[in-house]
Amino acid sequence: MKNIALLASGSGSNIENIVCYFRDDARLHFPFIISNKQDAYVHERAKKLRIPSFLYNKDSFENGEVLAFLLENRIDFIVLAGFLLKVPLNIIQAYPYKIINIHPALLPKFGGKGMYGSRVHEAVVANRETESGITIHYVNENYDEGQVIFQAKCKVFPTDTPEDVAAKVHELEYRYFPEVIADVCLGDSPSKQHFST
Ligand code: GAR
Repeated sequence: MKNIALLASGSGSNIENIVCYFRDDARLHFPFIISNKQDAYVHERAKKLRIPSFLYNKDSFENGEVLAFLLENRIDFIVLAGFLLKVPLNIIQAYPYKIINIHPALLPKFGGKGMYGSRVHEAVVANRETESGITIHYVNENYDEGQVIFQAKCKVFPTDTPEDVAAKVHELEYRYFPEVIADVCLGDSPSKQHFST
């Protein structure tokens, strides 16, 4: 059995989808959710899902408190789903190729500091892109630069609003993120790549 920590800063709809997907799968266990935001809606979802959620601020991440908590709880993998704080080096070094992030665009496009959530979809539309999608990648010390594990694409039409793109991207996230988590956390090859269109 693998213990997975779920981290989110916002709504947490991906977290809810992941937890529901694996509800009857004894191989993966999600003992808690961590957020760096007190008012994040993910705390409400956590109550509904009957999973404890914890609030840790930036300092607790940086001073090793969060790492100690992860280790005490024998966490094997860390999944970021809309988690907007930069993961500090102490955690990255303790969990090499064990931290997975989802980004709502086709990296390396529309990534980096400040590129998150609706800002990404606004930039995609402003740039008149004809496609967008999701990138699931390992986390390293730079925002959105870790090795890509999986990408899936959707079309963007000239008439699409950022909200339209967001809806298509969320659909891809709900469809693929749990499968990729299963693959990474239960598979034996930590660096294999998949691409889907
Ligand atoms: C998701 O679309 C995720 O890809 C994105 O935030 C959203 C969170 O939605 N992540 C980033 O932008 C990271 N740079 P959710 O809270 O409803 O799962």
